[in-house]
Amino acid sequence: MGSTEKDIEAAPGRPVPSALALPASFKWGISTAAYQIEGAAAEDGRGPSIWDLYGRQKGRIANGDTGDVACDHYHRYREDVALMRRLGAQVYRFSVAWPRVLPQGRGRTNSLGLDFYDRLIDELLRNGIEPWLCLYHWDLPQALDDLGGWQNRDIALWFADYAALVARRYGDRVRHFATFNEPNVCTLFGYGMGWNAPGIADRRSFLQAAHHVNLAHGEAVRTLRATAPGALLGAIYNRQKCVPVSAAPQDAVAAGILDACWNRLYADPQCLADYPPELIDGLQEFVQAGDMARIAQPIDWFGLNHYCPIYARADQNPLGFAWADAPRDGPLTGVGWRIDPAAFRDELITAYRRYKLPIYVTENGYGANETLDASGGVNDVGRISYLHAYTKALEEAVATGTDVQGYYLWSLLDNFEWGSGYANRFGIVYVDYATQRRVPKASFEWFAELIRAQQGRHA
Ligand code: FCB
Repeated sequence: MGSTEKDIEAAPGRPVPSALALPASFKWGISTAAYQIEGAAAEDGRGPSIWDLYGRQKGRIANGDTGDVACDHYHRYREDVALMRRLGAQVYRFSVAWPRVLPQGRGRTNSLGLDFYDRLIDELLRNGIEPWLCLYHWDLPQALDDLGGWQNRDIALWFADYAALVARRYGDRVRHFATFNEPNVCTLFGYGMGWNAPGIADRRSFLQAAHHVNLAHGEAVRTLRATAPGALLGAIYNRQKCVPVSAAPQDAVAAGILDACWNRLYADPQCLADYPPELIDGLQEFVQAGDMARIAQPIDWFGLNHYCPIYARADQNPLGFAWADAPRDGPLTGVGWRIDPAAFRDELITAYRRYKLPIYVTENGYGANETLDASGGVNDVGRISYLHAYTKALEEAVATGTDVQGYYLWSLLDNFEWGSGYANRFGIVYVDYATQRRVPKASFEWFAELIRAQQGRHA
């Protein structure tokens, strides 16, 4: 599945981008993550992260791929910012690699690493693009993992110190900070299911890590408020509808547990000072007096990542559910993810009703296994159809009174897609990894047109 040819068959005709009924203040942008694009893994004093070591374990990552070079963005960031400018992006959401600025995770700072983000931020500002900085997109310094990583309660303070360093250094130029990207994925896959670094599969470890991530979020928000008083703070949550894979009642129970782990275990304590009832039994041993108040620091915006519904089936394992593939009875992306724009609309509406914070869509996009065609381009009409349908769904959510203020597409470049390595391409710019040549796909031009249409509407 997933060739460009199949995408073309599945999507006759290219939808024409037209202006959507969105607020004039609405922002269009692009999202990336440090480990997925930067490369330069051993350069200028960067310390190792858990993904560097995980990638070296046999069989963990498809094709034995690693992020050592990735898109070489560390050296090519100017060219990448120029692409963003050509696109018309107003916002660039990126992450700082914790081990690049603090090679051991705490203590000694690495000035060359700090300089890199100075250069990047300045280049963005020179090009009229607003930098949005995320502190944690999964690349934990290995030195902290050696001390237990997210299972060590002290990490809440290590993370807050790191947040303070970043805010002191960039707070004069960066106005929007996010604490975590998708805490559900890095803890459930990293500690509960063994699919992501550091590769642990254990329910207790998962819930312990989850609680410490929540504490770290709260401590970082408190520190950021003190260090960068004018900044607007948020967190980035991954919300997907959790669907039982069959009509069997046990599968419905499994989907409810997955929903607690995926959609509520972070946003509920962080925004509502409450844990999902389904998980309280396992969390209790880690929660100390005063923790819930430390976690639930007020934030200014809700980052929402969304791709597709996810599926659960009952299982005897300690988690209480097993992950299931999307049934093949409906439309799928090039990497087998269900296409269901109504589910996106509904997640936006539900998240706004529940958390009452302005929402920024901080990730949404389409993956496929693409190659350059005979004319040397990528005519990714499957991705264009997906983006068209999903931005329309966003407009529908806004029409119901949901406060959505921005849409940051995942992603600018094809990049290192975690366990799938480089096989799954999510970029609107194709990357030829052998030469690092960037080739904008048809969707790049489509998205640029959409942004222009939107700006014309408010001109
Ligand atoms: C999200 C991640 C992002 C990327 C996309 C496809 O879960 O935040 O890094 O891998 O999926």
